Amino acid sequence: MKVLVVGSGGREHAIVRSVAKSNRVDKIYCAPGNAGIAELAECVDIGVMDFDKLTDFALKEKIDLCVVAPDDPLVAGAVDAFEAKGIKSFGPRANAAILEGSKAFSKDLMKKYNIPTAAYENFDNADDALKYLETAKMPIVLKADGLALGKGVLICNTIEEARAGVKSIMLDKQFGNAGNRMVIEEFITGREVSVLSFVDGKTIRPMTSAQDHKRALDGDRGLNTGGMGTFSPSPFYTKEIDEYCMKNIYQPTVDAMAAEGREFKGVIFFGLMLTGDGPKVLEYNARFGDPEAQVVLPRMNNDIIDVMEACIDGTLDKIELDFKDNAAVCVVLASEGYPVKYEKGYEIKGLDTFRDKDEYFVFHAGTKLKDGKIVTNGGRVLGVTAMGPDLKKARGNAYEAVKWIDFDNKYCRSDIGKAIDEA
Ligand code: AMP
Ligand code: GLY
Repeated sequence: MKVLVVGSGGREHAIVRSVAKSNRVDKIYCAPGNAGIAELAECVDIGVMDFDKLTDFALKEKIDLCVVAPDDPLVAGAVDAFEAKGIKSFGPRANAAILEGSKAFSKDLMKKYNIPTAAYENFDNADDALKYLETAKMPIVLKADGLALGKGVLICNTIEEARAGVKSIMLDKQFGNAGNRMVIEEFITGREVSVLSFVDGKTIRPMTSAQDHKRALDGDRGLNTGGMGTFSPSPFYTKEIDEYCMKNIYQPTVDAMAAEGREFKGVIFFGLMLTGDGPKVLEYNARFGDPEAQVVLPRMNNDIIDVMEACIDGTLDKIELDFKDNAAVCVVLASEGYPVKYEKGYEIKGLDTFRDKDEYFVFHAGTKLKDGKIVTNGGRVLGVTAMGPDLKKARGNAYEAVKWIDFDNKYCRSDIGKAIDEA
């Protein structure tokens, strides 16, 4: 069969790699893809939001399955656009992707269906939000309602910071229209875990757990980024926690979406905080995480096409997910200065060292081919993933492999997976 993957980052490279492993697949296209993906798929120069061109291409090439990976096209209805042309497509429709597209929607859903999450209020004007702050407890969390490249969350320690935050979200529109509404939320503490899961509208199958590192600098300092590294599994995510989440969070979320007439098919990513009061939902995403996919998918034994089709066909109850009994760590190699300002266009050396090594992967995020050379082309450039029999060995392997790569401007955190030592 022919598969089209929509997207261009490290997550998409990990998805394309899994698709390429399926012996049901003859040909893979990726729109727009990147220099690493180009080794496994034919990259097509169509943007992820150009639904007309994407659907025309899929019809012309007789694509059997489209996989829409990023949040923006999902929330804007890419799956609806493919389906309208009769093209089979993996991912939630727009009416379900709202689970990620609107934080106010997802908070109200959790409240209505008793799904544990931080206490909150929604606001659609700055005056009410500012008034609410006068009696609120600090620290407090401000969230722009809509998509904001993972950057629309402000944690404020003082009321002055919180007032300034409300103004920048709702009045100065720091995150554009994403800030037309906002959520003000109780600050909760604990360990964070990401659990990605396949969903077919009724049945949910969680994948193995992972933990991200969102801040740019060591010691969880600096600005929030798309994610600087991940490890999987999380040693803090026990069987008991998994059972609690299945009963109180995962299945109730799927059932709630169905009850609201918003049947969810695709991947739900649960961003969880393991608090003293039990696990709570920090956020939902309607897709694979980046760089969570880069540690979760290499550990999955199933044929990803079988699982994706079962999600579309409503037969996920017939599938058991199977993960390797090992561990994986991904260290993101970024351009110095990310996420604010950075230079691009530097040649990347050492990529060949990863060839023919089963336990090591170099996923491309921001790269492109220029004059026959692969050069840096983004803030997050590569994700270096290594597996190992346990988390510590996987971490050692990943940091060893980081040394194989060289480019001007190369920056990575040196403490990805430090939490493993506290387990
Ligand atoms: P989100 O995009 O909602 O996952 O938020 C980004 C990050 O902000 C999370 O990974 C947490 O580290 C932090 N965060 C979000 N909500 C809260 C909260 N209610 N309490 C404490 N930290 C939070
Ligand atoms: N790594 C977090 C995300 O994909 O949203």
